[in-house]
Amino acid sequence: MKHSSGGDSSETITTTDGTIPLGSLESPSKTGPDVHILRLPFQGNFLSNCVKKLLNSFACLLFLPLTIVGRLIEAFFALKQRISKHDSSLEGKVVLITGASSGLGEALAKCLYTEGCKLIIASRRYTELDRVKEQLLGSGLRKGTIYPPVIIQLDLQDFVNLPDKVRTILGVYGYIDILVNNAGISYRGEVTDTSLEVDAKVMNINYFGTVALTKALLPSMIVRQSGHIVMIGSLQAKLAIPFRSAYAASKHALQAFSDSLRAELDHRNIDVTVVNPGYIRTSLSVNALTGRGDKYGQMDETTESGADPLHAAYQIVIAIKRKTQELMLCSIFYRLAVLFRAIFPSVYFKMMARRALRAKKIR
Ligand SMILES: NC(=O)c1ccc[n+]([C@@H]2O[C@H](COP(=O)([O-])OP(=O)(O)OC[C@H]3O[C@@H](n4cnc5c(N)ncnc54)[C@H](OP(=O)(O)O)[C@@H]3O)[C@@H](O)[C@H]2O)c1
Repeated sequence: MKHSSGGDSSETITTTDGTIPLGSLESPSKTGPDVHILRLPFQGNFLSNCVKKLLNSFACLLFLPLTIVGRLIEAFFALKQRISKHDSSLEGKVVLITGASSGLGEALAKCLYTEGCKLIIASRRYTELDRVKEQLLGSGLRKGTIYPPVIIQLDLQDFVNLPDKVRTILGVYGYIDILVNNAGISYRGEVTDTSLEVDAKVMNINYFGTVALTKALLPSMIVRQSGHIVMIGSLQAKLAIPFRSAYAASKHALQAFSDSLRAELDHRNIDVTVVNPGYIRTSLSVNALTGRGDKYGQMDETTESGADPLHAAYQIVIAIKRKTQELMLCSIFYRLAVLFRAIFPSVYFKMMARRALRAKKIR
């Protein structure tokens, strides 16, 4: 789409369908020779709308058995893969974990250190990374050869210094076998009260920063024809809930990016695993941003009662060993909710609207 302007009345947008005067996208009450009102196919036709809705519901009903059959086929292939494929050993693998200074990243560092990986742990807080490193070295968890974790101070928002950071990272062992993109930040707020800076910050850390780091490390993986990229997404990559717009959007974007990336890297022997966890007991909600950019500072009930981070990390390590393409790390209830959203979108939207209203009343 291209804009061209040559005075007020001649402003146009060029689309693949031709040139539309900008006036045609404005209020329908505007009249004049240049104004063409864009009509949607079913606009204002009650009967057509009803027929369309009925057909949609019918299609949904047909879709349900198909979905169940699809799920059964998926389960069959997963079982076949489990029986036929041996888990690959992670001993001696060079693993970069972002956001390793707390929560899930710290738990992943513990599990992967125990597996004998050569760890590079990264995040903004050096002292916390140092604490993680010292705890690992003093834990006695590793029985074989010990590789002391290497600390890299990294801010995913700092795109300017990223190339230097990547050079430092690659300078440690010369390559990265497994990149675990775990660092992330959450958000609590209402769209109307949220500054665009906050939307951008969440997007920069969870999406653009992660994408930038991945792209910077990819060439070295491509040269070696070997690598594994692990994206820690969220259940909210599949299900957006009210008051999480920026967070859910960033995780939706990451899911889409990863799906495209996986397909493009398939022939290069580089694997992509997307992990979408439900709630995990970490400081995610405490560290979340509010609409004004302050720290939310509260432990949500849902997060508090979430899964043990070590248990989640253990399951992620199994997925890494099996090169699982996608792991929904949540209860069957949430998996069904994803299915429900796909089959009955209108009902789901109604439920979310009610949830939003309830939450607003409680506040
Ligand atoms: N906890 C859950 O319920 C849950 C559910 C689904 C998905 N997840 C995902 O799991 C991942 C880990 O989160 P968590 O639950 O372990 O929360 P957490 O304890 O708050 O950890 C977040 C990590 O990200 C790092 N980080 C934040 N901003 C960064 C930046 N600008 N640059 C580099 N690192 C940054 C933090 O380290 P520094 O502060 O030292 O930089 C910290 O280590 C996130 O991607 C999150 O979206 C969590």
